Amino acid sequence: MVGIALEQHGPWAIVAGASEGIGEAFARQLHDAGFGVVLVSRRKDTLDALAASIVASAMSSGSSGSAAASGPGTTPNAAAERCRVVALDLTAHDAVEQLVAATADLDVGLVVYNAGADTMAVRFHDRTIDEVMHLLSLNVVTPTRLCHHFGRLMRGRGRGGIILVGSMAGLAGTGWVATYAATKAFDQILAEGLWRELRRDGVDAMALVAGATATPAHDRMGARITAEYPPMDPAAVAREGLAAIGSGPVWVAGAANRAVFDALHTVSRVDLIEQMTAGTQLLFDLSD
Ligand SMILES: NC(=O)c1ccc[n+]([C@@H]2O[C@H](COP(=O)([O-])OP(=O)(O)OC[C@H]3O[C@@H](n4cnc5c(N)ncnc54)[C@H](OP(=O)(O)O)[C@@H]3O)[C@@H](O)[C@H]2O)c1
Repeated sequence: MVGIALEQHGPWAIVAGASEGIGEAFARQLHDAGFGVVLVSRRKDTLDALAASIVASAMSSGSSGSAAASGPGTTPNAAAERCRVVALDLTAHDAVEQLVAATADLDVGLVVYNAGADTMAVRFHDRTIDEVMHLLSLNVVTPTRLCHHFGRLMRGRGRGGIILVGSMAGLAGTGWVATYAATKAFDQILAEGLWRELRRDGVDAMALVAGATATPAHDRMGARITAEYPPMDPAAVAREGLAAIGSGPVWVAGAANRAVFDALHTVSRVDLIEQMTAGTQLLFDLSD
């Protein structure tokens, strides 16, 4: 089945990096679809305001989330009950333990790992090693731990979904954002491998590769808006990701980005993953 579905990916979704931009759009769209949403990022006030806004728009549209019959969303306060704020720093060494504790009573069927933009474009050796390692914590260590914990629970249940937000910068080594590009390559490759391993268990893993997107972080980084490469609307990126889950290991947001992605790959990603997996199975005498 292609596309987000409460029975396959619900009833609760964690959105890591939810307070603005693409993450905010994911949270709003998932709540509209009847999911309970766990809003995660550092700024509690911003998350509280987002939760209030999500609830207000659900009330005004009359969507109580009654579709979530077996989970959250079955009472008059359903909209509010389907929002939980968890303020934490995803680079903390115990970030995943904090998140697991804060969601221990919830049936988490979807993890969207969205946090991860770089803060500046600067040469690798003009950054401190702490800045470099910070990005590794945010984009490699924590998403890996999250996928391990929640993906294993999903595998046990035989349903679920994982979306790791990647970047066009991760398609090749990229100067001035060398670490960022490398971490985004890691996220895409991890999602691809999980897609291959988990598909027989009914769990959809996917990398959502974004190109320039008009988020507050994009502005803060000082990115220019050019006619050749206009940024996408964050809501469109999230919408494409939710529509594409279950379709394959990678979805590239936006037709222009897809054209670049396709031009870089002469072998389809699915064929490549199958060939790499078959080689590994042959080497180690493995089978599905
Ligand atoms: N914008 C683009 O042009 C673009 C292009 C390609 C790919 N992407 C990808 O799209 C995703 C979203 O990017 P974005 O532009 O919206 O910027 P972002 O800086 O990744 O912000 C997204 C969210 O992450 C949260 N966040 C950042 N660091 C965090 C931390 N240490 N702990 C907890 N939460 C944290 C932010 O909230 P708080 O500040 O409240 O913590 C915010 O809600 C990223 O993975 C990025 O790599 C973006």
